[in-house]
Amino acid sequence: MNLKEVLKMADEMVFAKTGKHLDNLQEAILRGTMQGDKYTKIAEESHCNESYVRQVGSELWQILSEELGEDVNKKNFRSAMKRFQVSNVSNFAQNVNEQHISGSFNTCKEGRHPPNIPNSQPPNQEISHQDLSEMPDWGNFFDRTPELDTLTTWILQQHSRLITITGISGIGKTSLAVQIVKQIQDEFEYVVWYALDEFPTFDKFQSNLVQLFSNSANPDSSPSNQKQLPLIKYFQNHRCLVVLDDVQNLFSSGELAGKYKPESAAYRSLFKQIEKLSHQSCFLLVGWEPPKEVPQLTSENTPIRTLQLTGLDTEAAREILRDKGLAEIDRCEALIHRYQGNPLWLKSVATLIQELGIDATELLLNDTVLLPDDLQDSLQQQFDRASEIEKQVLSLLATENQPVNLAKLLQNGQILPSDLVNALQSLSRRCAIEKQESLYTLPPVLKQYIKGL
Ligand SMILES: Nc1ncnc2c1ncn2[C@@H]1O[C@H](COP(=O)(O)OP(=O)(O)OP(=O)(O)O)[C@@H](O)[C@H]1O
Ligand SMILES: [Mg+2]
Repeated sequence: MNLKEVLKMADEMVFAKTGKHLDNLQEAILRGTMQGDKYTKIAEESHCNESYVRQVGSELWQILSEELGEDVNKKNFRSAMKRFQVSNVSNFAQNVNEQHISGSFNTCKEGRHPPNIPNSQPPNQEISHQDLSEMPDWGNFFDRTPELDTLTTWILQQHSRLITITGISGIGKTSLAVQIVKQIQDEFEYVVWYALDEFPTFDKFQSNLVQLFSNSANPDSSPSNQKQLPLIKYFQNHRCLVVLDDVQNLFSSGELAGKYKPESAAYRSLFKQIEKLSHQSCFLLVGWEPPKEVPQLTSENTPIRTLQLTGLDTEAAREILRDKGLAEIDRCEALIHRYQGNPLWLKSVATLIQELGIDATELLLNDTVLLPDDLQDSLQQQFDRASEIEKQVLSLLATENQPVNLAKLLQNGQILPSDLVNALQSLSRRCAIEKQESLYTLPPVLKQYIKGL
């Protein structure tokens, strides 16, 4: 299938859906995608802002997904078009014969896979077993190119088995995980998204997975009269991508970060097997804190990786404000900086600015960080999970105007040295404190919140 053919087919699909032909940028995205170019390069060559190119790309994938009846993204565009072409070849030939036309691919509306019909037979048997019903779909997604590249390398090239994505609430962990799943799902035989609720039971998780494996009628499926295989066997026999979101629900509240609740012991054993045993599957654990056993710094020789997510860069954060009609306001960058590029916090502050009819300059008049109600709620949920000693350390740090070292914190004399270092480690795993070499500090939003308690 050559580039010209692909562009022609895509153009007809877009025209069928929108009544408009591909514009220059859409065509550049498809051309770049076919050549394996990254968005950065496409943006450079089109002289456009990368976030904008991504947004146009994402809308284009959406249109093509609906037209092709399967999830299309930058990674699988070529193979999706190929599948479409193969499945339409006979229909195409028939049309050509019937209509006595040549050179015109005029069959977009006929013979394709039915659009998004649940349980319809997916086109590629090897990659068709998915349960993404719990995966959120939130529209616009800006940038995160470095993080997506890192995750892709870890998962596809280094075959990491267990990856944690952690970060403070609202920083964009779930959104990032959704994006990586969309980009690489075709590399896996099974793809599952599982959101853990407040009382996650392993049995429910296990039976959902076994159900999925059984439905796909593989030789290792487990009819009710056969003994069920241990879960790890499925992950060894098939290449699976499993995303577990909100993993903090596996851990105890009021304890140091990542300490399993007694009732989560089975998850712990499974993660251990996922880490230790040989297989081609990958687990992505997404949430506020990583399991206690997972070190924050991992070596290349281990199959574990950790990604602590920080705020969006200024350009991407500006896109969030632009979405809210606030991109051109004065002191936009100062606002982004103060709220650390956290997309949820920025959205919340933008809503406040809009609803009060004030401007950012008024918000940024002095050093006080304004905390909208929903932002406070989200911080409270996280703060409530900390242990008593962690809370003491947070209060200590909130009174400091400059970053402090361990010795200074110990001078306080109220906390035992080993308790203090454990609390600092735990707070750092929760992304609640910032470390600059051996100095610790609280980010401004958190400091303001703790001071207000
Ligand atoms: N890169 C991004 N581009 C656009 N919007 C984003 C991006 N990342 C996050 N958001 C938006 O910010 C909000 C918070 O994102 P998300 O839910 O992914 O954060 P989270 O870290 O998973 O939060 P929590 O810890 O509470 O689950 C959502 O409204 C999401 O759409
Ligand atoms: Mg989330």
